[in-house]
Amino acid sequence: MAKDNGEMGINTRLAHSGNNPRDYFGFVNPPVVHASTVLYPDAASMAARSQKYTYGTRGTPTMDALTQAVDALEGSAGTIAVPSGLAAVTVPLLTFLAAGDHLLIVDSVYHPTRHFADTMLKRLGVEVEYYDPHIGAGIAALIKPNTKVVFTESPGSNTYEVQDIPAIAKAAHQAGAIVMMDNTWATPLYFKPLDHGVDISIHAATKYPAGHSDVLLGTVSANETYWKQLYEGFCTLGCCSGPDDIYQVLRGLRTMGVRLEHHRKSTLALASWLEEQPGVAQVLYPALESHPDHALWKRDFCGSSGVFSIVLKGGGQKAQHAFLDALKLFGLGYSWGGYESLAVPVFLGDRTVAKGSYEGPLVRLQVGLEDVDDLKADLLRGLAAAAATA
Ligand SMILES: Cc1ncc(COP(=O)(O)O)c(C=O)c1O
Repeated sequence: MAKDNGEMGINTRLAHSGNNPRDYFGFVNPPVVHASTVLYPDAASMAARSQKYTYGTRGTPTMDALTQAVDALEGSAGTIAVPSGLAAVTVPLLTFLAAGDHLLIVDSVYHPTRHFADTMLKRLGVEVEYYDPHIGAGIAALIKPNTKVVFTESPGSNTYEVQDIPAIAKAAHQAGAIVMMDNTWATPLYFKPLDHGVDISIHAATKYPAGHSDVLLGTVSANETYWKQLYEGFCTLGCCSGPDDIYQVLRGLRTMGVRLEHHRKSTLALASWLEEQPGVAQVLYPALESHPDHALWKRDFCGSSGVFSIVLKGGGQKAQHAFLDALKLFGLGYSWGGYESLAVPVFLGDRTVAKGSYEGPLVRLQVGLEDVDDLKADLLRGLAAAAATA
């Protein structure tokens, strides 16, 4: 860590965390180290592995520059960088779970997390159970003697329920379970999981940290208790990421604060405006006072990012597709956190508990860095097309 100081403002910390320029001739950015082999000075040091870097899969100065910057944001004991956000979910789950363990997952989880749990984890003998995102302290009733991990994601994917993370963490810890959280939506700028009782914080750095829709990367940060085991799991799986991708994410991190603030303002403006539109039944964005979990969001979060969903007023898939097909600025594509706006149809058919009851079809919007008036004009095109299907 170069000049990080918890007292400084977030943009200052984003600009100066990670590498120390003095470690590399004063160049402000760290070198991009392409590495498998690392040489040892002699046989004794090789046998003892008694040097900082031992092999490319176990860490490089480029990976350290990013992971130290992330540790400074998360307040974590250590961070690993893995090749995608999905790997940031699967690596800790594989590291900490064993056959016979019980895993509790929030029902509004990112779909590929559910797919991983329902296929690979079940095949490996893990018992998987989904819980209601609004369960709070009530999760104690679901915890069994073999519950090893409680996997949270807040707000939940697509429907954006906010979970009472401190209450869930308290109940989980009383039973000796590990609490993991996919915190991609908030980033550590708007929610710091470890300060709220989470043990392992997960991020798809593909989204806001990278910010330009051109890199896949994940980070996993652990507290003191679980860091050693997480790092061992990372090395055992050989799940390291390439230096160019890591470098791109560190580069993105420098501007994440200013980008996120723009995403936040534009999204709040659009979400409030959408609430007034006749074709919109509901806007699922916790920063809005109308959101059922607004008070909880306000208690724990210090900002809101740029992805949320709208519920169209009536109509089915026909209206949903008409809305999407009429958009010109919002691209139809997966992922979010980049500079450009995107829209996707929401599918809730995989839910077991948090099915919700919505008046019409849902569309998820990712608000990019474009000008709000242009985005409004685009959404009006979509709403007019959806209304025309009635
Ligand atoms: C909440 C959440 N977690 C994890 C991921 C996975 O990230 P990646 O696309 O880098 O695998 C995504 C991707 O959309 C996501 O929305």
